[in-house]
Amino acid sequence: MTEPHSSPKPFDHLFVSQLNELFRWRRDVRRFQTRPIDESLLTELIYSCLNAPSVGNSQPWRFVVVKDQRARHAVCKNFEKSNDLAALANADDSKEHYKKLKLAGLKEAPVHLAVYCDKNPVEGKGLGRQSMPETLEYSVVLAIGQLWYSALAHGIGLGWVSILDPDEINATLDTPDNWRLIAYLCMGYPEEQHSDPELVRENWQGPTDYDTKLFYR
Ligand SMILES: Cc1cc2nc3c(=O)[nH]c(=O)nc-3n(C[C@H](O)[C@H](O)[C@H](O)COP(=O)(O)O)c2cc1C
Repeated sequence: MTEPHSSPKPFDHLFVSQLNELFRWRRDVRRFQTRPIDESLLTELIYSCLNAPSVGNSQPWRFVVVKDQRARHAVCKNFEKSNDLAALANADDSKEHYKKLKLAGLKEAPVHLAVYCDKNPVEGKGLGRQSMPETLEYSVVLAIGQLWYSALAHGIGLGWVSILDPDEINATLDTPDNWRLIAYLCMGYPEEQHSDPELVRENWQGPTDYDTKLFYR
């Protein structure tokens, strides 16, 4: 058992302003250098999000580092197929624009990381998730957020790829039936740094109107 602290660890102004900078510069990265990530750093980053909040302390996250070249290749093909299908779903006037967007860096990224949710974890004994079972998946997403920021603190970018057929990913990675795919992530050192989203820079959408996101009642 750890000793309780009488006061929270002080976080000074410098830390707070640096934390805000970290938030400002977090991007979904699709353009990676091929330079590898040190194995021990990758493990450290994954371990750094194992203390994320989770419903009933269920810790339902399961991380799969995809090292096998055939599996990586299958995931790239999966993306290409899913992306071609997704392109068709766009209105006629945005189809060509969609096809020009770079929506994954799967080929270049040195690390592929699949993140799963164990749908029935032993930890927590079901506490907190009886009426809202989806909170297990929310918990995994929180861990991914934590990973995203801690990676950036080490200069490493993360790109979330959801344009994939999840059943095919499960088959490629031979994962247990009671795991649900939450995210397929690319990780690596970014080729470039930006403080605005690529979809805004590419004119897919305009800048965020912050007034439309906050409400009071
Ligand atoms: C659940 C989730 C799935 C995403 N899937 C994709 C994807 O398949 N391809 C892609 O290019 N970006 C994907 N993104 C990244 C978003 O497009 C990106 O976060 C958004 O455009 C804002 O850009 P920013 O993260 O750089 O601020 C995903 C993000 C989230 C949270």
